[in-house]
Amino acid sequence: MTSKLTLHGVSKRYGPVTALHPTDLEVREGEFVTLLGPSGSGKSTLLKIIAGMELPTEGRIIINGRDATEMPVRERDLGMVFQNYALMPHLTVFDNVAFPLKIRKTATEEIRRKVHDALKTVQLEHLKDRKPQALSGGQQQRVSIARAIVYNPSLVLMDEPLGALDKKLREQLQFEIKELHDRLGITILYVTHDQQEAMSMSDRVALMNGGRIEQIGTPRQLYFTPETAFAADFLGSSNFIDATVTARTSERTVCRLSSGEEIAAPSREGFSEGQKVRLMVRPEHISLLGQAVSADRNVLKGVTTGTTFFGESAEIRARLAAGSEIAIRIPNDYSLPEAEPGAPLHLEWDVRQTHVFA
Ligand SMILES: Nc1ncnc2c1ncn2[C@@H]1O[C@H](COP(=O)(O)OP(=O)(O)OP(=O)(O)O)[C@@H](O)[C@H]1O
Ligand SMILES: [Mg+2]
Repeated sequence: MTSKLTLHGVSKRYGPVTALHPTDLEVREGEFVTLLGPSGSGKSTLLKIIAGMELPTEGRIIINGRDATEMPVRERDLGMVFQNYALMPHLTVFDNVAFPLKIRKTATEEIRRKVHDALKTVQLEHLKDRKPQALSGGQQQRVSIARAIVYNPSLVLMDEPLGALDKKLREQLQFEIKELHDRLGITILYVTHDQQEAMSMSDRVALMNGGRIEQIGTPRQLYFTPETAFAADFLGSSNFIDATVTARTSERTVCRLSSGEEIAAPSREGFSEGQKVRLMVRPEHISLLGQAVSADRNVLKGVTTGTTFFGESAEIRARLAAGSEIAIRIPNDYSLPEAEPGAPLHLEWDVRQTHVFA
């Protein structure tokens, strides 16, 4: 598939501050790629460099096969939607959306048709004569989206476009943006610090940490095979347990807890016997129901310390014989007994759902 955007070793320093370490990234035609990461991890810096609002300290930016590193913003063929990318208050919705076409000297009749189509796409045709201040936050962001797609750009950049909206509206617009992407086949590079937003919308997620892309992959790859403890912790919930590697085969890494209990994990490069590691298992992968004894299951003993009821699921906290506390998420099921504090627990999970980190 053709590449819409390629970054080669793009970095950004502000005096002594390195906002972005040399970064490579490729976004393919029609892809929805999200930069996900905590505050200050370099997401907006990367987006601003691609948009042409900042120059990179090093590296090259290729958009649609052309070197765009020093190209002015207007020539980059990009649409942009930012959290506070203000609409022009004195212009109507129609004229705001028409703006990118007017500066491109598009013919009047073509402007009318394209603006109409873009407003129809975001379901705002009926409000075309209103001024932005007479619109709700969600409607204003829809106008921003219409303006970003109206001239059919190669790539649309969105930096926390839903950040200022309440949860319900956020979810609705997430759905609308995703639907727009699928229907129009546009290529989107999206920024959020919300892991659920990233996982539910994206074809691929680039997880950023400290000015670097720490891991990039499909939401499933990041969730099921996190490569670092940071990735495991940032996406989804995770339990960490300290252990020491006692044996390694080509298939398995076996680790011992301070209680003497042993836990197996799929083998990974880079671990040696005697090494201290952190094991990780997700709360929803732990079962409290004993199954037939099998080499594919890990088993630990624990004691209940508390339960929180969430409606569709419940979280049980347990203290392990090895000392640490872990959480278990179980879907609600009337047949499960209420776990009283102090009650002994049998915890088990699939060896494949065990991760080892240095
Ligand atoms: N103009 C600047 N001068 C100095 N440092 C800057 C400048 N712009 C950004 N930084 C620093 O670069 C780092 C990355 O900032 P960036 O805005 O890219 O983070 P972010 O991932 O978008 O965070 P957020 O989720 O809070 O928006 C931060 O440590 C920030 O303080
Ligand atoms: Mg930002």
